[in-house]
Amino acid sequence: MGGADAGAYVRVENVWKSYGAGTPVIKNLNLSVAKGEFLTLLGPSGSGKTTTLMMLAGFEQVSGGAIVLGGRDISSVPPYRRGIGVVFQSYALFPHMTVAENLAYPLTTRGLGRAEIRERVAAALQMIRMSDFASRYPAKLSGGQQQRVAVARAMIFRPGLILMDEPLGALDRQLREEMQREIKDLHDLTGATIVYVTHDQSEALSMSDRIAVFNKGRIEQIGSPQEVYRNPATPFVASFIGETNWLAGTVVSAGEGELKARLSSGEEVLCRSKDGLKAGDEVKIAVRPENIVFDRAPEPASCLKTKTLDLTYLGLCTRIRLARENAGELLAVVSQQVPGGYAKEAAEVWFSRDAAIPFAADAT
Ligand SMILES: Nc1ncnc2c1ncn2[C@@H]1O[C@H](COP(=O)(O)OP(=O)(O)O)[C@@H](O)[C@H]1O
Ligand SMILES: [Mg+2]
Repeated sequence: MGGADAGAYVRVENVWKSYGAGTPVIKNLNLSVAKGEFLTLLGPSGSGKTTTLMMLAGFEQVSGGAIVLGGRDISSVPPYRRGIGVVFQSYALFPHMTVAENLAYPLTTRGLGRAEIRERVAAALQMIRMSDFASRYPAKLSGGQQQRVAVARAMIFRPGLILMDEPLGALDRQLREEMQREIKDLHDLTGATIVYVTHDQSEALSMSDRIAVFNKGRIEQIGSPQEVYRNPATPFVASFIGETNWLAGTVVSAGEGELKARLSSGEEVLCRSKDGLKAGDEVKIAVRPENIVFDRAPEPASCLKTKTLDLTYLGLCTRIRLARENAGELLAVVSQQVPGGYAKEAAEVWFSRDAAIPFAADAT
């Protein structure tokens, strides 16, 4: 969340944006992207991801603050002079040009020689495994093929920065996963800096070096996929990325590295500590479903008494819906057989202290 890092390749500094006279849709945004990094902007629809990307590309003006690329303030440089590659969700290939002509276009407009253009187009076609499609028109390509060409076209002039706005949003799941890997491979191969937008948390987790989690025009947290998943900074991040059980309670004692809480259902549980929380405070405690276990968790751990409501077998894992004694439901996700089976009526479930993340009850 802190200020932009002075040595970064891309810096967004105190940027805000409002459309016309409306209230700001981006509020005091600070962001830095290292050279070669794959940064993803993740957030729900309307949280300001596209607006941020469009300001980086130059298709939207900042209302305040600055965008710095390679040490140069580009806030008022027009898009075509920023030298940034852009890929949108809709493929946006030129329909009247063949695949090869589409790929050649950014090179032609930059005045490269014919031989060099031919060479680079051939290399790009090979990179996306579409050499046989050079003379096809976009209308004769599948969605996935069109998007491959769009990605290659954004990279072919070797821009230092490439922006992608939900480029795989229109593709079905299998193709999307294939293309995720392909974009990652292209990223590794070219060393380009990529800012990638998605509302799909699994896409963000699997592709990114770092994820910036957007909510209502602000960044709630920036960190590696592991950081945002394991150490969510806010309840919003805990809920938006992955699934979370919420337990309501009151802090009993706040000690070194540990916090003890009494749940509103009566049980005492152990959590990680959190700055600012003290005895008597109302809390909500996040516990991931995969951290709910059916045999005694490694110490220190807490126990809840539950009854199994139903099981959903999903192959890779089984989802178990549990009713807590006196209070609501709990979701557990297990990947292996539980000792004794889970179809039992009553079950004691456990979670370790480290798996329980407390927040102030009124935090959002
Ligand atoms: N051209 C526009 N004019 C007015 N409001 C806009 C415009 N584009 C986006 N907005 C508003 O700005 C907010 C952020 O939108 P957007 O950046 O598209 O979010 P996201 O890409 O995360 O879905 C939304 O409230 C949206 O309605
Ligand atoms: Mg968008």
